[in-house]
Amino acid sequence: MARILTGIQSTGRPHLGNILGAIKPGIALSKDPKNEALFFIADLHSLTMIKDGEERVKNTLATAAAWLAFGFDTDKNIFYRQSQIPEVCELTWYLNCFTPYPMLANAHSFKDKSDKLADVNAGLFIYPVLMAADILMFDANYVPVGKDQQQHLEITRDIAGAFNKKYGETFVIPEVIIDKTVMTIPGTDGNKMSKSYNNTIDIFLPKKQLRKNIMTIVTDSTPLEEPKNPNTCNVFALYKLLASEEQIVDMTKNYQGGNYGYGHAKQALFELIIDQMTKEREGFDYYMQNTAELIRKLKEGEQKARDIGLGVLSRVKKKIGF
Ligand code: ADP
Ligand code: TRP
Repeated sequence: MARILTGIQSTGRPHLGNILGAIKPGIALSKDPKNEALFFIADLHSLTMIKDGEERVKNTLATAAAWLAFGFDTDKNIFYRQSQIPEVCELTWYLNCFTPYPMLANAHSFKDKSDKLADVNAGLFIYPVLMAADILMFDANYVPVGKDQQQHLEITRDIAGAFNKKYGETFVIPEVIIDKTVMTIPGTDGNKMSKSYNNTIDIFLPKKQLRKNIMTIVTDSTPLEEPKNPNTCNVFALYKLLASEEQIVDMTKNYQGGNYGYGHAKQALFELIIDQMTKEREGFDYYMQNTAELIRKLKEGEQKARDIGLGVLSRVKKKIGF
């Protein structure tokens, strides 16, 4: 049995990039009978950015609802909020004391954030150690993440390796899984879709708002009558991620034939999303309206996760003399 573990921060509502880049591939791995998946909402990590409690609760529920809407089986697997396993913070402290300061100071993600953000708090600096605790606390074998998280996984492996070297075999050294076939999903402005860039497509919005969201995709000013290049168009880039081969061929012809405007292409993308994700959109609304059921599922998972985590923690504490 291999243990697969991953988390998504509750810094906003989950978007098409999170869904195609993390949620769908994660759920596919969790369906393998040889795997046990631990998927969680990294709400402690979100505190580095989000200070409003109500906003965090909303984001946490929406992120959990998205996992469930896409069919995550919480009976077979383990689903939880990071904050409900508070011992992860205790393990973070122990790991901090095995983490060389320059390793954190040189992390790309920290440098990036400290250049861009006004609030450069110590939580941002310690972020990779909390992430290492998330992973090491549950003896995870594999961690599927986007390419941007690769360095954080290297840091986790380094910390675990340093600890094991000093005290003997304690932590499982996790392997990263970066699915090369899952490319970076572009946002409405053509850059990487991200909650931080305000360029997301929120497929769970009510129809009218979703249509409006899709209409904000940036295009060039080629007039309606003229042929257009699908390969340089942000609308086409998203369309082809979801469409069938046949639909892609037809859409390419529309672009190249002229008399087909970007408005038409956006409408087609909107219809495709509605068409393909009706069940998931309904599932999301269901869980957002039945949060008691959603929280019950999380609590069941939190019990299971805590049992595993406390076992690993006591192994660690024995080694370091607590
Ligand atoms: P965001 O950049 O919106 O804050 P997160 O950092 O919360 O996204 O990412 C959660 C998961 O979704 C990660 O595994 C990440 O790699 C994946 N992900 C986020 N944005 C994209 C994207 N544009 N394309 C592919 N995967 C993405
Ligand atoms: N840092 C990850 C991200 O922004 C989220 C995360 C937190 C995570 N803890 C984790 C991912 C543990 C994998 C394993 O995407």
